[in-house]
Amino acid sequence: MTGRRSAAPADAAKRAVATAAAGLVADGMVVGLGSGSTAELMVAALGERVRDGLRLAGAVPTSERTAAAARARGIPLTTLDAHPVVDLTLDGADEVAAGTLDLIKGLGGALLREKIVAAASRLLVVMVDESKLVDRLGRRTPVPVEAVPFAWPVVAAALQRLGARAVRRRVGADGTPFVTDEGNAIADADFGAIADPGRLERDIRLVTGVIDCGLFVGRTGLLLVGGADGVRRVTPA
Ligand code: A5P
Repeated sequence: MTGRRSAAPADAAKRAVATAAAGLVADGMVVGLGSGSTAELMVAALGERVRDGLRLAGAVPTSERTAAAARARGIPLTTLDAHPVVDLTLDGADEVAAGTLDLIKGLGGALLREKIVAAASRLLVVMVDESKLVDRLGRRTPVPVEAVPFAWPVVAAALQRLGARAVRRRVGADGTPFVTDEGNAIADADFGAIADPGRLERDIRLVTGVIDCGLFVGRTGLLLVGGADGVRRVTPA
């Protein structure tokens, strides 16, 4: 099967969850806009609703890229200063634990603002296709860890002591270190299958120089899963 053929159903699933998620937004809401390809499809669908008359109190973007996409679609932006409580945040994920709905996020590099906006939200809605569901987090995706660049050697050694193989994220042919929207570095920390995501999240956050990590534990309020049979809604047990 060619890449093009196998990509098509996943694209359709992403579009379906993105559209379903945008449909949850109501007049007057403050909406958190996630980052990544699924979130960008959601921004497009939400933009259509705004064009059709939906009136938002404002949208808080979780990355500069999402902010640009929202502006291009005519979605009014706001800030956490103006609206410290977000009614509803719609975001993607890199892995979702099927039992607990805990997440790994941040392969797109926006985990810090994503986690801040999620923490400010009454409800976090996560949009994925079936391929993101796993039995245990970490088996195929590293945990992105955002750290102060000055602290990199200290953070790398500490992550190793916690059991990870950690590499600094780099971009381009010359291997320039990746820089987040907040001006920080990212370590991709491979822990293998994670037995206790809550404990690991706490341990990582205690490392001096770490700002936060892409483990989102106990934060998902509603999961939308796109598959061949349409969009399935899953709530935490
Ligand atoms: C961005 O930092 C990530 O947390 C994204 O939410 C995640 O990578 C999902 O992206 P896709 O929707 O592109 O798979």
